[in-house]
Amino acid sequence: MSAVSKIYYGAVINPETLTSYQVLPRCLLAVAASGEIAWLVEDVEDSLVQDTLAQKGCTDADVEIFALKHGEFIMPGFVDTHTHAPQVPNIGSGQQYELLDWLQNVTFPMEAKFSDLEFARATYKSVVRRIIDYGTTTCCYYGTLHGEATKVLANTVNELGQRAFVGKCNMNRNSPDYYVEPSPEASIDATLDLIKHIRSLAPSTSSPPLVQPILTPRFAISCTDELMEKLQKVAAADPSLAIQTHISENRSEIEFTLELFPSSKSYAGVYDRYGLLRDNTILAHAVHLSDEEKELVKTRDSGISHCPTSNFNLSSGVAPVGDLLDRGIKVGLGTDVSGGFSPSILTAIQHASIASKVIALQSATPLQQGSKFAGQALPIATLLYLATLGGAQVCCIEKQIGSFAVGKTFDALVVNVRSDSNGPPGLWGTAQSMPVDDTSEGRRKELDGFLERFMFCGDDRNISRVYVQGRWIGGTSFRH
Ligand code: GUN
Ligand code: FE
Repeated sequence: MSAVSKIYYGAVINPETLTSYQVLPRCLLAVAASGEIAWLVEDVEDSLVQDTLAQKGCTDADVEIFALKHGEFIMPGFVDTHTHAPQVPNIGSGQQYELLDWLQNVTFPMEAKFSDLEFARATYKSVVRRIIDYGTTTCCYYGTLHGEATKVLANTVNELGQRAFVGKCNMNRNSPDYYVEPSPEASIDATLDLIKHIRSLAPSTSSPPLVQPILTPRFAISCTDELMEKLQKVAAADPSLAIQTHISENRSEIEFTLELFPSSKSYAGVYDRYGLLRDNTILAHAVHLSDEEKELVKTRDSGISHCPTSNFNLSSGVAPVGDLLDRGIKVGLGTDVSGGFSPSILTAIQHASIASKVIALQSATPLQQGSKFAGQALPIATLLYLATLGGAQVCCIEKQIGSFAVGKTFDALVVNVRSDSNGPPGLWGTAQSMPVDDTSEGRRKELDGFLERFMFCGDDRNISRVYVQGRWIGGTSFRH
C-alpha cells in the first residue's frame, strides 16, 4: 500500500452485518494515495489526535487532515445494483402503464434515440454527474442496445471517476422494428467489442478496475433461444464476467416468458438452463419468484437487486425481501430508473422500508420460527446494509467496498445534516444548537439520529462530498 495521503477525523457510520452497524463519533481514518484505507482508529479524543498521528508515523507536514464539523459524518457510498442510464430523461413519465406497455410506449422510443452519439454524449454526461452527486459510488448500468453509445457511457463513467458495471442490452426479438438487434451474431459481436473496449479503459495496475463490463441480456422475452445459447458461451468462456438481467417483475411478463420457453419450468429455470445464474449474476426485481426459484437462486449464489420504487410505480408488486434475506440470498438496492422515478438510492431506501411495512401489514400469520426478517419492517441497520455492503456483495466486490476496513478502498460520502447544508428546510435547523449530551453514549445516540433522518428525509443537498477510491469526485462542495 502507498503512503498515507489523507486523514479524516470525526463521525463515521460503518455497516457491519444485516442487523448491525458501528456508530463512531470520533474516528480517525487514514487513506493511502492508492485510495485504500491504511489504518483506522475507532475512538480518539480530540486532545489525543496529534499523539495518535505521531504513533502512526504521520506528521502535519506530510498529510492533509480533514476534520468533520458537528452535524457531519462519513459513511460508505451507495451501491445502485440496477439502473438504466438512457431512461433518466424519461423519469416521471408513463406511470399509468405496467411493464410491457411501458416498455413499448415510453422506454423503447427514448432508448432508440441513443443511436445518435452526440445525444448519448450530452445525456450520459449529465446522467452520470447527477447519479454521483446523489451519493452512488458504485452503479450497475444498463445502456441501450447500441454498442457505440454504450462505449460513450463507459467512457463517461470512467472520466467522472465512478465505480461501475456497464453493459449493452442484448435484445433481438419482441421489440419494435426501429429498436431491435438484427441477429444473434450482431448482438454478440457488439457485446464482445464493448467488453474489450471497457477492459482497455483500465490501467493494468488498478485492481479491480473502476469500470467493468457486464453481460446484459435485457430479459428472457427479448432474447431468442439462439441468442441465449450464444450468451451462454460468452459467459462460460469468461467466469469473471458479471451478468445482469430482469427476473419475475410482472405477472404478464412471467406468463409470456413461460410461453416463449415451454421446456423450462420457471422463469429462473430459463436463465439457469442457459448457464446465466451464477455468483456474479444480478437479478433485478424478483417480485413473484416461487419457493423453488428462490432455492435455485440461493444454490447458484446469484444476487437480487431490490427495486421497490419501480415495483410500486409500475404496479409490479412487492418483493418479499425479508424472505429472501432469511434464505441467505444476497440482496442489494436498485433505483431501476425510469421504472423507478428517482435516481437516488435514498429514495430506494425509503421505499424498501415502506415495502417491508406493506408486507408486514399483510402478514396474517405470526412470524414463522427461525425467520429473522420475513413479515417484519426492515430495521435501519438492514436498510443501511442493503444500500452499501449488501449491494457490494451482489456485485461480488464486498472485499473492496461497502464498509470501512483496512485494505478496503475509500468509497465514501461526507453527509452534512447541519442547517448550513441547504438541505430539506426545517429538518436540520437545530442540528448545531441542539444540546449535546457529551458522553460517548450521548454522542452515539445523536449520530444515530442524524443517520436515520438522513436516510428518511435527506437528499443530495446533504451530500457534500463523494469519494471513489479515495478520490473526491462529487457532492455539493465539489467544484465541477
Ligand atoms: N424488463 C425489461 N426491460 C426492462 C426495463 O427497461 N425496465 C424494467 N423495469 N424492466 C424491464
Ligand atoms: Fe430495469
